[in-house]
Amino acid sequence: MTDDLEPWFPIRTERILLREFRENDLCDVHTYAAQAEVCRFMDWGPNTEGETPAFMAFKLAEQARWPRDEVTLAVEHLADGRVIGSVRLAVGDRPNLTGDFGYTFNSAYWRRGLATEAARALIAAGFGPLGLHRLWAECDVDNRGSWGVMEKLGMRREAMFRQGRLIKGVWRDRYPYALLADEWISPG
Ligand SMILES: CC(C)(COP(=O)(O)OP(=O)(O)OC[C@H]1O[C@@H](n2cnc3c(N)ncnc32)[C@H](O)[C@@H]1OP(=O)(O)O)[C@@H](O)C(=O)NCCC(=O)NCCS
Repeated sequence: MTDDLEPWFPIRTERILLREFRENDLCDVHTYAAQAEVCRFMDWGPNTEGETPAFMAFKLAEQARWPRDEVTLAVEHLADGRVIGSVRLAVGDRPNLTGDFGYTFNSAYWRRGLATEAARALIAAGFGPLGLHRLWAECDVDNRGSWGVMEKLGMRREAMFRQGRLIKGVWRDRYPYALLADEWISPG
């Protein structure tokens, strides 16, 4: 594993900037965190007016610490300067060089390939500067958008976890997806 004491972010891609949160992102973050369709498969939300500032305070405090194994980043849409979602990459199993990631986007920006673009950048960071061997993510079996992103990225569905997660009081089945470093074909 390479020396990852240097932050591997911010990352700029064609249409987005993955960067740390700023205090004045609150309004944009609340917009997506309060959307019922965004929170449908999440164990949080839709956020109330009070919940998003608490989340932001937590994230801003977390950002003051470095190094850390779990990083959540705001997704800034370059065309309009708005924060349209967030992504997370965690090195959850350091001895086995294994990390996991996730993503959440404002529904007004769905189906434009933006989650795929963001996740591709996370994978490049995981297998590049972070030196990971394996990356995984999991989603609800009914979260077509989420597993659509993972399949588009060439990840492999490795199982189905029966009732793997309690989401809003209901036990939900989950698909784990994974990708190995030597399976990753970086687009240049
Ligand atoms: C999951 C999510 C991040 C996908 O974001 P997105 O930017 O719309 O995804 P993309 O545009 O990159 O889609 C990639 C592929 O996934 C599939 N897909 C995405 N959304 C879909 C949907 N609603 N229905 C069917 N297929 C979908 C498509 O195959 C798509 O490729 P295509 O548009 O070329 O056909 C977004 O729906 C979201 O934020 N959902 C709420 C939060 C969430 O559930 N996060 C994941 C938790 S595990």
